[in-house]
Amino acid sequence: MSQQTQIYGHQIGGEWTDGDGSETFASENPATGEELARFQRGTESDVDAALAAAEDAFEEWRSLSYIDRAEYLWEIYHELRERTDELGEIVTKECGKEISEGRADVIEAYHMVEWAAANARHPHGDVIPSEIPSKDAYMRRKPRGVVGCVTPWNFPVAIPFWHMAVALVEGNTVVWKPAEQTPWCGQIIAEMFEDAGIPDGVFNMVQGFGDAGAAITDDERVDTVLFTGSAEVGHEIASKVGGEPGKLAACEMGGKNGIVIADDADLDVAVHSAVMSSFKTTGQRCVSSERLIVHTDVYDEFKQRFVEMAENVAVGDPLNEETFMGPAIEAEHAEKIHRHNELARDEGGEVLVDRAELDDGEIPDGHEDGHWVGPFVYEVDYDSELRCLQEECFGPHVALIEYEGDMDRAIELHNDTHYGLAGAIISEDYRKIHQFRDEAEIGLAYANLPCIGAEVHLPFGGVKKSGNGYPSAREVIEAVTERTAFTLNNSTDIEMAQGLSADITTSDDN
Ligand code: UN1
Repeated sequence: MSQQTQIYGHQIGGEWTDGDGSETFASENPATGEELARFQRGTESDVDAALAAAEDAFEEWRSLSYIDRAEYLWEIYHELRERTDELGEIVTKECGKEISEGRADVIEAYHMVEWAAANARHPHGDVIPSEIPSKDAYMRRKPRGVVGCVTPWNFPVAIPFWHMAVALVEGNTVVWKPAEQTPWCGQIIAEMFEDAGIPDGVFNMVQGFGDAGAAITDDERVDTVLFTGSAEVGHEIASKVGGEPGKLAACEMGGKNGIVIADDADLDVAVHSAVMSSFKTTGQRCVSSERLIVHTDVYDEFKQRFVEMAENVAVGDPLNEETFMGPAIEAEHAEKIHRHNELARDEGGEVLVDRAELDDGEIPDGHEDGHWVGPFVYEVDYDSELRCLQEECFGPHVALIEYEGDMDRAIELHNDTHYGLAGAIISEDYRKIHQFRDEAEIGLAYANLPCIGAEVHLPFGGVKKSGNGYPSAREVIEAVTERTAFTLNNSTDIEMAQGLSADITTSDDN
């Protein structure tokens, strides 16, 4: 695949096609700048062809049983398991996550495929009591139709399967656009659907950029949009789709996630959790933490220990097992991280660690063209107006915020953001933990743990600006199916609920 002789295309209606675009784009290794492969850039008319194929394939696909549809996913499950190491390395090469994270991405993918395929044999509706003894009532599910999926680069194998595995088992067909930074992972996933022999048009992939993504999400043939990515794009999609009757969107976006470190925290757990949450994946998870809210009684000790770790975490070649943090995804993103660091400085942040520009000696040989950024840690007096405490950086950029008083104050600071995705409390006091669980405005809450690393069968999504849906596991079923409330009368008499008269009176009766 690393040869530059071939230009990879789209998978539309069971065929590989170059589409009708004239532009190509490269997948690049963010740790080296090396070109990995080249891809066709999809156009609106490529998306049009993919949507037509998905519409055509729908009736036949929905007529299969859940179990038969799941069989195709089981094929993929086995392939993902067998190829975990190989694919983990590709994930690492294409998106720069260190190698254990590359593998974890593939493992997370097959966990989701396993969940979706196994769920085919679980009940898919409800038997509901009726007010009328002679009536049987049920809730039954039907697929919605064509599901449009737009996925991010940071989980280039896992998140596509969050979206597509359940949507397909439920009987929908899909049109998917992988992130433009990770088309190689997209290509491999498309090959897996082909290897599994999924019927033509059930799965379609168009490579490309935001214009291709918008052509999918805006099209009226798309019944449900599943989106995971930036808040900016997610809000645009959610508001557009919200104005179109009959269309649904489940969007999961970023956060300005916080960790509360209480006065009674075990500081080993606190430092470990904070380092994982802020620097793992180079801070480029939507659940990464950019705010550490620390009680004044433990502030100095926590600060000293956290700063020491931030000074020393191993940034380097992500293929090396000893590396903790790889590079940023692309040059533009590294610049964005630098801008956020500058903003923190300009707004009065006291900089405690600045490894944003790595020293030459820290950059591994042959990796001079990588998009390197190291940890940046600052402390700042709390002020709700500070942009640095409100805007998501999506990098290894983290604020220490000292608080005094009780959990009410900690939670007030924690909740003072437009976002609400993930967060954690570090405390030995179950009352504080439960208060955080109940009052923190987030979709994913942790205690004595990092705020990253959710398992696939948990509902993954946020509140406030972090999202309007849960594009994975059980929750996504709501977005990709219609419910039918079905009521059957076992009597020859018609009897109505709510005491409604079933008598038909005629003018003769008066
Ligand atoms: C993301 O943050 O972009 O909970 C997805 C986690 C992973 C998924 C993260 N299972 O950290």
